[in-house]
Amino acid sequence: MPVHTLTPVTAVEQSSIVRCASCGATLDDRTACATCPNCGGLLAVEHTLALPSGEKLRSRFDDRLGAESYRGAAAERSGVWRFRELVIPGVRPEDIVSHPEGNTPLVTREAVAGFAGVHDLWLKHEGHNPSASFKDRGMTAALTQAKRIGALAVACASTGNTSASLAAYAAQAGIPAFVLVPEGRVSTGKLAQTLAYGAHMIRLRGDFDDCLELAREASERLGVYLVNSLNPFRVEGQKTIVLELLQQLGWVAPDWIALPAGNLGNTAAFGKALREAHALGLIDRVPRLLAVQAAGAAPFAAGFSDDFATRRRVRAETAATAIRIGDPASWDRAVDAIRFSNGHVAAVSDAEIFAAKRVIDGCGVGCEPASAASVAGVRLLAERGIIGAGERVVAVLTGHLLKDPDAALAARVAGGLGAEEPLTRDEALEHLGRVLARS
Ligand code: F0G
Repeated sequence: MPVHTLTPVTAVEQSSIVRCASCGATLDDRTACATCPNCGGLLAVEHTLALPSGEKLRSRFDDRLGAESYRGAAAERSGVWRFRELVIPGVRPEDIVSHPEGNTPLVTREAVAGFAGVHDLWLKHEGHNPSASFKDRGMTAALTQAKRIGALAVACASTGNTSASLAAYAAQAGIPAFVLVPEGRVSTGKLAQTLAYGAHMIRLRGDFDDCLELAREASERLGVYLVNSLNPFRVEGQKTIVLELLQQLGWVAPDWIALPAGNLGNTAAFGKALREAHALGLIDRVPRLLAVQAAGAAPFAAGFSDDFATRRRVRAETAATAIRIGDPASWDRAVDAIRFSNGHVAAVSDAEIFAAKRVIDGCGVGCEPASAASVAGVRLLAERGIIGAGERVVAVLTGHLLKDPDAALAARVAGGLGAEEPLTRDEALEHLGRVLARS
């Protein structure tokens, strides 16, 4: 089998535009604007490149898989850039900032399926990305765009994962990074990563929503490139979670895809991925999206209950700090994603999230608290009979267990494990004997 090289795209292939979803303004795909310069609305990338459809496109993506590609360029080995025609088709290989990322496992675990009450449950573990969360997929695209436009600095507001990912990719690109995080609400693992990778971090007295508002204002005033998930290129990268899981399932669409939802960037990206995958004939039917929020931070779930008649905001509170967001930025495009996929939005309590986390951790897979919301949501909908016991469900685990070691320890201690006092050698032997006799 040949070693695949990253083929430079032709002039014809350099065909994407960026369009404002609110006022319809169109921009060149090398725009440095993260939001519409006319009206502040959300921008979306549209690929106008003529692509083969169905089997031909599936084969093109499948041909790039395989052991041989591990010898190729980082971008060629990436689970994002494998789908580059649907990310940034006009990208020059030398502009790609790739770790590489993606190629995350899709696994089944009987214990989790039993807990959720869905026999055919798959876990797509995005915590296996280089900075240990799904954010790397959007960030490789955003930093590639930053390089394309010659950005002098990049910035984001974050509950922790975006900042860790931004710090890693900005370090690789050699572009200074600024992050705004809510004081006292970001887990140790994420803070450590962000600082270690060398980003300038500001801890703001306020919550994530305050941080995002300030990040938007500061980036506009200071000309810094904003790479929060409202940035349209972040969305393009995050679409590949869906493309990759469809590829792993042999391009046979599951019945449902469940994901945790906070700022709604990922929900929006999943909807766009499904729309494009269906239009291009990569799949012949559209799975239903299930966006799951923490009950204390669930404006989108409240909106779903009245068919999104009004946009909602709340003061968010949840121990799943990654999704402690009360005023989600990608509201409109997430509404579109739920409507297009005939999807559902659910809210689960912190107790339900941590119950799911204990099962996911306990079978050796593990995830951070927010990630477990997807499985908790599947269980809730299965109980209500909305998800059928025989349906195929993919639940996305968005971040690694070690992102929040304090939460992982607390969850075990609450379950009566690991709370013991330190023992002497003799006490330890006696203790081991007692535990073995019980098991
Ligand atoms: N899961 C994890 C682990 C997250 O870090 C986030 C968002 C989400 C789910 C929700 O995704 O915002 O696209 O709906 N974290 C952002 C951050 C906000 O700053 O790291 P979303």
